[in-house]
Amino acid sequence: MSPASNTGSATINASWLVTGASRGLGLCLVRQLSASGARVLALSRSTGPALPGVTHVAYDQSDAASITAAAQAISTPIDYVIHNAAIRGDTGGLASLTADHLAEVMRINVAGPLLLTRALLPHLSPRATLAFISSRAGSFTEGHDPDGDYAYCLSKAALNRAVAKLADDLSCRVLALHPGWLRTDMGGDEAPDDPETAAARILSLLVNPKGPRTGSYCDSYGKPILP
Ligand SMILES: NC(=O)c1ccc[n+]([C@@H]2O[C@H](COP(=O)([O-])OP(=O)(O)OC[C@H]3O[C@@H](n4cnc5c(N)ncnc54)[C@H](OP(=O)(O)O)[C@@H]3O)[C@@H](O)[C@H]2O)c1
Repeated sequence: MSPASNTGSATINASWLVTGASRGLGLCLVRQLSASGARVLALSRSTGPALPGVTHVAYDQSDAASITAAAQAISTPIDYVIHNAAIRGDTGGLASLTADHLAEVMRINVAGPLLLTRALLPHLSPRATLAFISSRAGSFTEGHDPDGDYAYCLSKAALNRAVAKLADDLSCRVLALHPGWLRTDMGGDEAPDDPETAAARILSLLVNPKGPRTGSYCDSYGKPILP
């Protein structure tokens, strides 16, 4: 299925912002949006490939000044924001957890997207969607993961709570989405799902007028995940 046919014409006249656009899921999202004719702000630490409709913006999600500067570069209203950039943490379990490392992961995976959201508020369309790429690992109920990465699980649980809080506070639609276990640098080669397919599912879900309501936490098919 081509990205354009999969995402439908609703993307064509929309403007999008995607973080973590340099590789993995973020790069797939940007490529497919470009192919569908969307206007895209691709935020990343390194400049990605030149693509039609795509403007690259320098962005380090660990740095408040960089987040503010990225938002100041915006001159047209944004319809869809995909907060995708994130890092994994140490996988050594409780034995190797440190407060500094936990703080670093929370800074990038939670504080960064929240600060960017605040900076973007003046630039959002009235009916904007803010999609936060979360993980099933952030679910108390479904997030059982044997790999010992406390910091990542905690960061995604906090992100989910932030999404619920933002859904209370903001008039735009706010979502937490689990993309699936993907064959990316983060997901590894043994992952069952490919990021191109996951990106297509996510874009279809976001532009679907009957898609998830604000405050939802769901997978890339739109199936709710228990908090
Ligand atoms: N892969 C999976 O199986 C899986 C499962 C559940 C959820 N997720 C979520 O899906 C999203 C995408 O994951 P992925 O698999 O595509 O990961 P990935 O391949 O590791 O890519 C991560 C992206 O985040 C960016 N990033 C990391 N730290 C950053 C920072 N300080 N400032 C700006 N950008 C930063 C990276 O940029 P650089 O190139 O500059 O490092 C890269 O573009 C993440 O939110 C992840 O938690 C993934």
